[in-house]
Amino acid sequence: MADNAPRPIVAGNWKMNGLSTSAFAEVRLLCGMLEGVSTGCDVMLCPPATLLHQMSELIEEAPIQLGGQDCHEKPSGAHTGDISAIMLADAGAVAVIVGHSERRTDHGESDETVRLKATAAHAAGLKAIICVGETLAQRDDNETLNVIAAQLAGSVPDASTAEDTVIAYEPVWAIGTGRTPTVDQVAEVHTAIRQNLADRLGSDIADAMAILYGGSVKPSNAEELMSVRNVDGALVGGASLKAADFIGIIKTYT
Ligand code: PGA
Repeated sequence: MADNAPRPIVAGNWKMNGLSTSAFAEVRLLCGMLEGVSTGCDVMLCPPATLLHQMSELIEEAPIQLGGQDCHEKPSGAHTGDISAIMLADAGAVAVIVGHSERRTDHGESDETVRLKATAAHAAGLKAIICVGETLAQRDDNETLNVIAAQLAGSVPDASTAEDTVIAYEPVWAIGTGRTPTVDQVAEVHTAIRQNLADRLGSDIADAMAILYGGSVKPSNAEELMSVRNVDGALVGGASLKAADFIGIIKTYT
């Protein structure tokens, strides 16, 4: 492992889930579970934007960071329904997920859009968690590494640093399906991502940049997935909604 290896991150992506009463009850539970625990990773929750502000007050004393799930590429303006990176920062976020495959599919986001969003996140002082991942058809066609390389080339801003950028490898076919790649498949892609980043940004930045795995991570498979070389944490969907499940993944790093 490189000397400047990143501190792992376990981030929960709540997607379009969470109403105040039940969500805050889970967050309070999680805060309690983390009390007195010295975690070997950063813990982050990315709730819907509607919950961010109140949640930032709730977790003030806890070792939990907050992130948004998407941002607009502009800081403000006539974009009904959109939220800018600086607004997320204003509500208490320190990071934002960009280019999640659900955004790429549901909203037709291109690599260029994702890169502009990541640049906007950086300008607002947020860490951009840039998602990449192949579909099942692309994997079956042996296109995985080419697809990932093209997504990285198009989505990662040239000026990215290890402080302001995290990569999340999320095979589309593993998201919400209960299916996960083998450890060899995860290792192959994560090693290729690290190499790609080194070629592009230099090895100092690449070695220090966290590369998360996401897609059906749960307490029962977290240890195996998180121990794969070049995996620096997890982006967790379904299993981050319940404190009891999420803590099981976080504890992989204690
Ligand atoms: P999942 O989602 O853990 O529910 O598979 C992961 C993600 O989409 O970030």
